[in-house]
Amino acid sequence: MPDTLGVGIIGLHMGAGQLRQIINVPGLKVVAICDLDEDLVKGLQQELDIPFGTTNYEELCAHEDVDIVSVATPDYLHLEMAEAAFASGKHVMMEKPLARTVDECRRMIDAQRAAGTKLMTAHVARFYDVFQMIKRWTQDGTLGETYNLYTSYIHNYETIPGFNRWRFDPELRHQLIGGGCHALDLARWIGGEVAEVSCYANHFNIPQLQTDDHFNINVKFESGAVGIVVGSFGCAHPYNIDLHVWGTRGSVIATNTTPTAKVCLRTIDRHKWMELPAGAAPKGLAAEFQVLANAIRNDEEPDSDGVSGARTVALGWAAIESSQGGRPVVPRKDF
Ligand SMILES: NC(=O)c1ccc[n+]([C@@H]2O[C@H](COP(=O)([O-])OP(=O)(O)OC[C@H]3O[C@@H](n4cnc5c(N)ncnc54)[C@H](O)[C@@H]3O)[C@@H](O)[C@H]2O)c1
Repeated sequence: MPDTLGVGIIGLHMGAGQLRQIINVPGLKVVAICDLDEDLVKGLQQELDIPFGTTNYEELCAHEDVDIVSVATPDYLHLEMAEAAFASGKHVMMEKPLARTVDECRRMIDAQRAAGTKLMTAHVARFYDVFQMIKRWTQDGTLGETYNLYTSYIHNYETIPGFNRWRFDPELRHQLIGGGCHALDLARWIGGEVAEVSCYANHFNIPQLQTDDHFNINVKFESGAVGIVVGSFGCAHPYNIDLHVWGTRGSVIATNTTPTAKVCLRTIDRHKWMELPAGAAPKGLAAEFQVLANAIRNDEEPDSDGVSGARTVALGWAAIESSQGGRPVVPRKDF
């Protein structure tokens, strides 16, 4: 195993954010970048001294210096790009959501297993400092047993940019899968596997979207905990991701865009919030790449692996099915 792992990044909008964060991370070297926009490729190559640039993702996947292919292109390209990377024996960092559908996730995991390499879903919210702190508190007993949680992804998409407006074509992206996966994944990460979901949705805000644009999802976890996940894409509200956890010993409320979290512990005062400093980690993208690099070096599964990413996609589709059919749905977990 080389001391330094070579990274190739495809898709240089979100991928440029990754590039700027991992450029100085020890043990990783960005050796190749790719985008259809040749000027963008050349500009970033020159600015950040990247040895190889191309507009052809298959060339990047086949490049001998690339160990990890990071796919940061629109969701509808995730599967074909992952398959090309696995065919060349590479590890893959896949931007969230893992893929558009449960079937695409299944095919991606099959390709990974055939290659015998690693697949990580880039659910960056897991790597924000404040959410990492809450996760630790659910594990070390600080909050006791989790019995209720609330997560939300609130992001007004009315004017969101994007390559050929792919976010507005329901064949190419469903908002709850593409954006709502942040909140769905946080719920699974804290609450564990989901037994059943029941969802109500509506469409009041973005006429050009062909799907509902607001989702209230009731979740029953296998542990017995319950939770509510909200995905909202048209509301007049600043962007944010929330995570609230209620445990038998205490509760915590945090948002990725505010500098403090509120904590209430039975052992101190069960009627009062305490404010704690809790930055949202500007380095979440670097942290997730370090997790994948460690998993490769130690030959272990990364947190947020392909199966986990697939289960988050399956949870989203179960919620959509529930909202359309008016009944609870059991999400698929057979990955
Ligand atoms: N983690 C996060 O918080 C976060 C934030 C934004 C986007 N994302 C994810 O990142 C992915 C990309 O989103 P985005 O906002 O950058 O999309 P975008 O449409 O803004 O940019 C996509 C980029 O991919 C390039 N591209 C398109 N087809 C290509 C091809 N065949 N080969 C090479 N390059 C190609 C485009 O030229 C463009 O530069 C999506 O899966 C999205 O869900 C994650």
